[in-house]
Amino acid sequence: MQNIVEAKNLSYKYNETVAIDNVSFNIKKGNFTALIGPNAGGKSTLLKVLLGILPDGKKIKLFDENITKFKHWHRVGYLSQHNKIFSSKMPISVHEVILMGRVLKEDCCTQNKKTKSKNYLDELLKLLKITSLKNKTFSQLSGGQQQRVLLARALLNKPDLLILDEPESNLDTKSKTSFFEILRKLNCEKNITILLSTHDIYDIGKYASHFLLLDKQLIFDGDRLQFCKSKPVEKYLGAFKQHIIDHIHEENFNHRCPVKKLKKRGAK
Ligand SMILES: Nc1ncnc2c1ncn2[C@@H]1O[C@H](COP(=O)(O)OP(=O)(O)OP(=O)(O)O)[C@@H](O)[C@H]1O
Ligand SMILES: [Mg+2]
Repeated sequence: MQNIVEAKNLSYKYNETVAIDNVSFNIKKGNFTALIGPNAGGKSTLLKVLLGILPDGKKIKLFDENITKFKHWHRVGYLSQHNKIFSSKMPISVHEVILMGRVLKEDCCTQNKKTKSKNYLDELLKLLKITSLKNKTFSQLSGGQQQRVLLARALLNKPDLLILDEPESNLDTKSKTSFFEILRKLNCEKNITILLSTHDIYDIGKYASHFLLLDKQLIFDGDRLQFCKSKPVEKYLGAFKQHIIDHIHEENFNHRCPVKKLKKRGAK
């Protein structure tokens, strides 16, 4: 299986503050990886380093290519943790916000032509249940509605890798479940590889196939079965580990996608 992300010995400091320390891991195609860990554990920093937003990029490969040479940014969708990106006075519509996600690099033209298709945009709006919001002003939406719009923006170029930083933080319980179900659908049916940082240790067990536990250093890297058996995870998370495991057990342990849909994997 192809490595979509390869990270080797990543470290990052903000002046004297060590945010991540010597972190290495790989993410394979089709994985749904949950990045968990305490506040200030370095999750957002790690995601930004992977995306080249913060420099320590020499030791990262995306889609088998060193990040310093990587040009296929249309293949990567990103939703950042802090999404207060527009002034409330800015009269920008939902539709316009989504279209801002289009990657305009020269080598991405073929992909852009595809995304120009009105059908795809309509499909996206329908999938995220935001069709009725299309012409509304972005800043007048609720936090949860804004989150869906920004996910649509991240999906506009039909990415193969989706990197999401605490996307559930603004959502109520019902919206959170439906948001995670959308991610599951994208992962299972469109074969999009997902890397998602979260504090939602209750729900994430249902969805994640793999876990990274980060507290500056990587405490754990492995699949859900290894996660359940891991002594370091137990030592680190204590009783919270059981919450995650309880939710993993609600589903068929080996299949986070319904079995009939697994056969369709690979079809885009
Ligand atoms: N722009 C910045 N300037 C200086 N220090 C920063 C900056 N961003 C993060 N840090 C520090 O780096 C460390 C890791 O922060 P980071 O935001 O990556 O953690 P996190 O795991 O995402 O936390 P949370 O769960 O609260 O989102 C923290 O000690 C934080 O104070
Ligand atoms: Mg963060």
